Amino acid sequence: MGLQLNVVVLSLLLLFTSTTKAEVFDIVAKYQAKADGKTDISTAPIEFKLQGTVMAPADPHFFKDPNWVVFNNIDISHCLEVELLMAKEQQLGARTTALRTNIANHFQLFNFVTNAMIRDITTKDSKQFNVNVLGCKNVTFEHFTVSNPEDSINTDGIHLGRSDGVYIQYSDIKTGDDCISVGDGMKNLHVNGVSCGPGHGISVGSLGKFQGEGPIEGIFIKNCTITGTQNGVRIKSWPASYPGTASDMHFEDIKMDNVGNPILIDQEYCPWNLCNLKMPSKIKLSKISFKNIKGTCSTKEAVKLVCSSSHPCDNVELANIDLTYKGPMDLQHLVVQM
Ligand SMILES: *[C@@H]1O[C@H](CO)[C@@H](O)[C@H](O)[C@H]1NC(C)=O
Ligand SMILES: *[C@@H]1O[C@H](CO)[C@@H](O)[C@H](O)[C@H]1NC(C)=O
Repeated sequence: MGLQLNVVVLSLLLLFTSTTKAEVFDIVAKYQAKADGKTDISTAPIEFKLQGTVMAPADPHFFKDPNWVVFNNIDISHCLEVELLMAKEQQLGARTTALRTNIANHFQLFNFVTNAMIRDITTKDSKQFNVNVLGCKNVTFEHFTVSNPEDSINTDGIHLGRSDGVYIQYSDIKTGDDCISVGDGMKNLHVNGVSCGPGHGISVGSLGKFQGEGPIEGIFIKNCTITGTQNGVRIKSWPASYPGTASDMHFEDIKMDNVGNPILIDQEYCPWNLCNLKMPSKIKLSKISFKNIKGTCSTKEAVKLVCSSSHPCDNVELANIDLTYKGPMDLQHLVVQM
């Protein structure tokens, strides 16, 4: 089922600068595409090219929809490849800190996108998550840059959930919240060659807050550098949670530079003390490894594994960890509650 595109390569050139002029590209009107449910879609790639800077307007009323850059439902079962190829050094949402707080709830959404390559994009000064990936399959982010100030709240770099097969590689994420955050239902995430910081590090979770969260399976974080962040690599779940599972999560070849809590499993995650710590988390964590993690940390605890007392962590492997505390107090090397 899909549109019949009469063009081999569909190139969209958006040349916006700071104006609020938006353009709608209508493939039905312009290219006589048909959504009749019968015609097979072309097997040729669709290329979405963005040249220039797309800047968010200061007035949030400009947005009819609270989200401002959305790729929705590019789920083309007959199409071999959809390429969202955006030209070099683009900025989405460049704004000053003061203006950022006034802008609508916009972030780039990738919903139900299959077989996509997204590269050479900069997202800057987003109000909330810079990128949200939901329901995607086989999507790659390459040479992707996130640039948000350290004090910006809730500005995760790339948030992912309910997707299968996402690759984030050779990218640079500077932000105020998690560089990469992994939500429920995420399967087969491969992160390689990402530098993260400032921000809150690379996180799986927090899990267990909502009923019916999908399992997390196959998270591979490799060859990354984390600098000046609040946390390094962590897995977190709420106490008194709904049940769930997260397994097969591996963190390997990570360089830490002045990082707080470089290795952290926190199943008593309770950021504003608004939870019942007497009831353990019901999220079962299993098959986890932290290997070859080196560098310096800014907190006394270099490795902290706080697992659920009712659903203890299963099969946790730590190997070749070399973290040095840079500070006045002695390093408390290892805190383990399993
Ligand atoms: C995954 O997506 C890429 C495009 O980024 C495509 O070239 C590749 O064939 C896709 N792989 C599969 C298994 O569909
Ligand atoms: C490791 O990451 C760096 C970028 O930080 C990249 O240049 C290099 O190719 C990556 N190594 C592998 C084996 O992918």
